Amino acid sequence: MKTSMRTHTCGELRSDAVGTNVRMCGWVETVRDHGGVIFIDLRDRFGITQVIFDPRDSAKAWDEAQHVRPEYVIAVAGRVELRPEEMKNEKLPTGEIEVRCDAITVFNKSRTAPFPLEDKEAVKVSEDLRLSYRYLDLRRRRSQELLRRRHELAMRVRRFFDAQGFVEVETPVLTKSTPEGARDYLVPSRIMPGCFYALPQAPQQYKQLLMVAGFDRYFQIARCFRDEDLRADRQPEFTQIDMEMSFVEPEDIISTVDALLRDLAASVGRKVDLPIKRITYREAMDMYGSDRPDTRFGMHIIDVSDVFAETGLQVFARVLADGGRVKAINAKGLAGAPLRVLDEWTVAAKAAGLGGLAHIRVQAEDTWKSPITKFLSEKEKAGLRERLDIEVGDLILFGADSADLVNRALGQIRLLAGKAADVIPDEVCSFVWVTEFPLFEMDEDGQLTFTHHPFTAPHPEDLGLLDEQPLKVRAQSYDIVLNGVELGGGSIRIHDAGLQEKMFAILRMSREESAARFGHLLDALRFGAPPHGGLALGFDRLLMLLTGASSIREVIAFPKTQKAVDLMMKAPAPVDERQLRELHINLLSSSEK
Ligand code: AMO
Ligand code: AMP
Repeated sequence: MKTSMRTHTCGELRSDAVGTNVRMCGWVETVRDHGGVIFIDLRDRFGITQVIFDPRDSAKAWDEAQHVRPEYVIAVAGRVELRPEEMKNEKLPTGEIEVRCDAITVFNKSRTAPFPLEDKEAVKVSEDLRLSYRYLDLRRRRSQELLRRRHELAMRVRRFFDAQGFVEVETPVLTKSTPEGARDYLVPSRIMPGCFYALPQAPQQYKQLLMVAGFDRYFQIARCFRDEDLRADRQPEFTQIDMEMSFVEPEDIISTVDALLRDLAASVGRKVDLPIKRITYREAMDMYGSDRPDTRFGMHIIDVSDVFAETGLQVFARVLADGGRVKAINAKGLAGAPLRVLDEWTVAAKAAGLGGLAHIRVQAEDTWKSPITKFLSEKEKAGLRERLDIEVGDLILFGADSADLVNRALGQIRLLAGKAADVIPDEVCSFVWVTEFPLFEMDEDGQLTFTHHPFTAPHPEDLGLLDEQPLKVRAQSYDIVLNGVELGGGSIRIHDAGLQEKMFAILRMSREESAARFGHLLDALRFGAPPHGGLALGFDRLLMLLTGASSIREVIAFPKTQKAVDLMMKAPAPVDERQLRELHINLLSSSEK
């Protein structure tokens, strides 16, 4: 990678270059003074080369090298030499050679970095400090590797879709509110006082409109913006691998994404067997207590209500009489879990709404230690043995309440038990499709809301339930989950204007309101919309999982903190009075809020 300033990069030289004169540029990684001879490790994106300054080669260069410190930016000129046998470094690709330097140029000095740039040391300092100087944090080898991976995967995504006839189309960032379940970021209009653009939560409506326009297959590596509470796997702005196809059924989308995921996983040395397993939402909730099940391990939730049909155990009998369920998980091998751990799990179960977390420690064939054993009949014990595949050493955990509550609570306990039993393999990529989500759910205020977004088509078999029992209607939707993380989601869309209007009406939107917010879409559906559907994958999440990064922030060049702050740019920040006036904005004083 020759430029007018250099003949070689710092990662390039091998023994075949011995004897040639070279010029290289980079950052000083280390300086070592070995009794009159100075060694500098010179670093750039491509690698590290050892440079040696000996007063016998050039007194001037040697003298100047004395003043060089780590992170100075320099150029060196010299001759490539073979290192003495005992000085060779097999760990370094350039470890066979060194450059004997006769001239040095210092382009720029550097202050001492506020934290060590060596990977192992850097991760010990606070992330806030690293993010404040992200340009230094990005000099680290691990950061460079992750961003290179990101680039490689993005290139693969483009090649994959291109080969399948998809067209990449960029969609606007200044747009109108797109309901994807989060709060919008708004941008005030200068020209239209009191009006706002919204940054897209996803390019959802645009990609549907592109199907109406006849593009047939669209994809985009798209930036999305959501003002929501942040977690380790969420950012206020993030990137989706977004796609949409015409004349398709769920099968077409799922098999296309299967092939893409296999390709992307293969590029980081992970094998994915196709087709990726599919389970319905109902099965996921019943077996795993989660709509994003971690399928790397078993410990499934099992309904044992029938075993307890005639139980003398009051807590279970009461729940069953009220139409609830008793469910259990067999936390294999955890019979010896300390009481402290069981107490912690009970607290977690209660926080999830359960009355408690009954347990049995199977210490020997006939020694079941438990606060509930004395209430168990032989028949119930036999029933549990059979249903839960009980062996000596197992810990059985019970939850009793409404089916939904028990599922969710035991789903959380299952993850804790899996971790405690150390049965969740790190290196495995366990993908699973979750299909047939409910079309609607209840929001926090007890109001009916959409589960995916309001453009998702109902399952054709459930159309008759829309008016009377909307919560029972299944959607033609599908999420792809990797190791317990929701990686992507999509659906078949409503392509009929009448049905779309009905959907808005069920969501308590008046005709006027739906026309004001979604008139463009409703109009478009009346101009010949093809059946269509698609999906979006969280690109940052995918990268995090495939590279084993500990947070989504590691795979984003300039991420924001959990408080949605860019510590390096110091954004968000106040703006001038004049700018506010131009935008017709008057800030409230703190007493007015
Ligand atoms: P959805 O809202 O499920 O679907 O988003 C798709 C995927 O985007 C990722 N994601 C995020 N990643 C990082 N930070 C966030 N704040 C964040 N929010 C979401 C997740 C998620 O699975 N328009 C639809 C897709 C479609 O129907 O085609 C949509 O956006 O990995
Ligand atoms: P109690 O009768 O309240 O002392 O409870 C007996 C055992 O059942 C204790 O181990 C409780 O943690 C457990 N328990 C109580 N309520 C529930 C429930 N709803 N589901 C599962 N276990 C429960």
